[in-house]
Amino acid sequence: MTELATVLTIDGPSGAGKGTVSRIVARRLGWHYLDSGALYRAVGVAASWANLDISDAAALVRCTFDTQVEFVERAEGELRVLVNGVDATDELRLETTGAVASAIAAIPEVRSALKERQRAFRRAPGLVADGRDMGTVIFADAQYKVFLTASAEERAQRRHKQLSQKGVCVNFDDLLREIMARDARDAQRTVAPLKPADDAVVIDTSGMGIDDVVARVLDLLPAPATP
Ligand code: DC
Repeated sequence: MTELATVLTIDGPSGAGKGTVSRIVARRLGWHYLDSGALYRAVGVAASWANLDISDAAALVRCTFDTQVEFVERAEGELRVLVNGVDATDELRLETTGAVASAIAAIPEVRSALKERQRAFRRAPGLVADGRDMGTVIFADAQYKVFLTASAEERAQRRHKQLSQKGVCVNFDDLLREIMARDARDAQRTVAPLKPADDAVVIDTSGMGIDDVVARVLDLLPAPATP
């Protein structure tokens, strides 16, 4: 039997810094990177392109099977996401897409339809998998597991700053309310709810800079062998 490649799972609520930390850690290690949230977001985008009714679970399951998602690395490590061949990277990051993805992600058949697609990312020399259920379900046998968290207020502040830098003006209280609603939806769903795996190292990133979080995560892994 071939040995499975090493996996580091990084789970946590939205805005905890998972995406940024996971991408930096993957680059430092020279490992593959799976942004599992992008798969749920891609299905959300494809569903809205097809004008599907978000309450029609059967149509959303069909849409999950039919949606092609490709991650393409452009210059300077920039990752673009193609949905059915169309670059949907910017649309994927919208708050509205995140909310649709969170609703779609509560459908058990959608989750199981995406299971094997996510597992296919596990390749040598290793994988950093970012999401909500990477350590609890998809890669329950991962060698390294991290759960990143931060207070809802801090996560809303970070998101607010990010959006302001992009020239997008949003009301802070609305953002905080949306983050709290998404947390509740992700944590309370019956299938694969957002929670740390029993064997995950929980890191509260409130008040921490990205570099410190990256260093804490890399500390959990054995130092690379020197030639
Ligand atoms: O990480 P993200 O914000 O891009 O994820 C968008 C939504 O997708 C999130 O609200 C919940 C869902 N999701 C999930 O249920 N399981 C994952 N492994 C990743 C994301």
